[in-house]
Amino acid sequence: MSLYENLLLNLDNGILVITINRADKLNALNIDTIREIKTAIQQVYDDPAVKGAIFTGAGEKAFVAGADISEISELSEVNARSFAERGQEVFSMIERCTKPVIAAVNGFALGGGCELAMACHMRVASEGARFGQPEVNLGLIPGYGGTQRLTQLIGKGKAMELMMTADMIGAGEAKALGLVNHVVPAVELMPKCMEILNKIVSKAPLAIGLVIDCVNAVYDKDENGYQTEANSFARCCSSQDFIEGTNAFLEKRKPVFKGA
Ligand code: COA
Repeated sequence: MSLYENLLLNLDNGILVITINRADKLNALNIDTIREIKTAIQQVYDDPAVKGAIFTGAGEKAFVAGADISEISELSEVNARSFAERGQEVFSMIERCTKPVIAAVNGFALGGGCELAMACHMRVASEGARFGQPEVNLGLIPGYGGTQRLTQLIGKGKAMELMMTADMIGAGEAKALGLVNHVVPAVELMPKCMEILNKIVSKAPLAIGLVIDCVNAVYDKDENGYQTEANSFARCCSSQDFIEGTNAFLEKRKPVFKGA
């Protein structure tokens, strides 16, 4: 049996495009799909041929329209906690990945879909994309990290409003709030993500990974982010890529980074 029933994976010039492929259910995340996302992100961690990744949704309508409500409706208190924890663990793996991960948001990004997009390092949206955390409509709250990451990204007041009203917002408002980095016409969505990732992967990979670690440290209560930064800065200075980067500048040539 294939590793993936609900995802399409395509490695394109070092960029792994991971497409949630349940278009008839607006790419809703069932438990199997969450499990497959974990396998796919582990591949991003482990495969040296993968330099960065993009998450997107199949079809023209949705990125991901949430966790699969037909499964959620069956949850009891006991298995709901592990359901949330399993999803949180997978989304934390995305957030902590030391290779860059972008969400290409091509339509509805609701509930778990908005949470998946927020776990990525940045978000690019097509003009028709719609964002929201409508869980209160179902008698629920976000369970895959949404209460935390939405607040981190857009601030307390607006996060409270979106999660309590269940309102959907368009791509333009999402950009104004800092939820998305760029809004582009649908045909330019993947090229824009590729352009950003190709720029990032041309830099020193160790330094990129340490930027991700240090920014994540801001939100880790057990870490002193300034200490993490100083340690990471020192780690860079012991790398071959640091010698190459500084020498290349002084010799007025382009650096060739090796990731060591
Ligand atoms: N879970 C399971 N199935 C979902 C789903 C979800 N989160 N979101 C959409 N679907 C399914 C629908 O049930 C429908 O399936 P069917 O054709 O077998 O009946 C199919 O996807 C198409 O959705 P539909 O509702 O007909 O499309 P629409 O264009 O009328 O509405 C939305 C689009 C996104 C507004 C609507 O689907 C919606 O509100 N989805 C739920 C969003 C949500 O609450 N997410 C948070 C979940 S915790």
